[in-house]
Amino acid sequence: MADKKKVYSGVRATGRLHLGNYLGAVKGMIALQDGYDCIFSVVDLHAITTPYDPRTLKQSTRDVILDFLGAGLDPAKCLLEVQSKVPEHMELAYYLSTIFPVSKLEDLPTYKDKKALHPKYVNLGLLYYPVLMAADVLLYKGELVPVGIDQEPHLEVMREVARKFNGMFGKTFPEPQRFATEGEYVPSLMGPGKMSKSVTGSYILLTDDLDTIRRRLAGAPTDSGKAGGDVPTEGGVANLFVLMSLFGGRQMYQKFEQDYKEKKIRYSEMKDTLSELIYQELKPIQEKRKGFEENPELVDGIIQEGSEACRKRAQETIREVKEKMGLY
Ligand code: TRP
Repeated sequence: MADKKKVYSGVRATGRLHLGNYLGAVKGMIALQDGYDCIFSVVDLHAITTPYDPRTLKQSTRDVILDFLGAGLDPAKCLLEVQSKVPEHMELAYYLSTIFPVSKLEDLPTYKDKKALHPKYVNLGLLYYPVLMAADVLLYKGELVPVGIDQEPHLEVMREVARKFNGMFGKTFPEPQRFATEGEYVPSLMGPGKMSKSVTGSYILLTDDLDTIRRRLAGAPTDSGKAGGDVPTEGGVANLFVLMSLFGGRQMYQKFEQDYKEKKIRYSEMKDTLSELIYQELKPIQEKRKGFEENPELVDGIIQEGSEACRKRAQETIREVKEKMGLY
């Protein structure tokens, strides 16, 4: 595998994944596992920087792994890691933190957003988040990072850290690039913004059954259906059409577009069709996931073996870094 490019990506341990995670990230990861040397991680150490429940974190981490496996990530083709099982992430993050200015971390938009969101939970780990993320990727000398555009500021920190380290201690790390997979932007069911776990009513989970999908779509806002003209470009109706094109393809889209233009659209019918289409796509994933869920030892083994293999690689980097930095 040495000649293949190294890919690393992390998904926060937020529990079951939704359609946005699936179309925006996981599908891209599945496409990459065949041609690249991939590590995909559930980043539980990042998850604890914002308020969370220690009683459910483990299950949340495991739910992401189960969704990965159900969706088709294959432990024979890529390494699956649970971040906290490889403590070298934290070790490297500390080393890297000594060469990076605090002021630059304070200026990051992601840090400012989180501060505004949880004003009573502004902890050192939150400030440190991008350093730990840089360490995640650099620990494996990752070159390509499939993540959303919103992570670009963090990728810049990563490259800056790598450059600075190389300048101070000799060439060690590549400068990782964001890898834009053909991920789709999945809109929120509720109107503005994208589908997100933190917005109630905005998402459909990969594990939702048909009734649940119907119920969630029923809550999505529409209009009176008498507007006619072109399909709107924003708002609840626009989002339904985006989902229709993602799951129903061109033909289905055009059918409902025609109805809209002729002012005879019935949103209940559209939502019903959409529910069926989404469920058809999710059903095989759910069946596969269930197979893993019913075999907890197998899943434990996958987590254990993946993380151990990662740890071996991580330790090599740590050895090299300590040597270069003059540490014992
Ligand atoms: N910050 C990323 C997110 O919120 C998650 C993450 C942590 C990550 N470490 C990473 C992504 C390393 C890619 C590589 O989506």
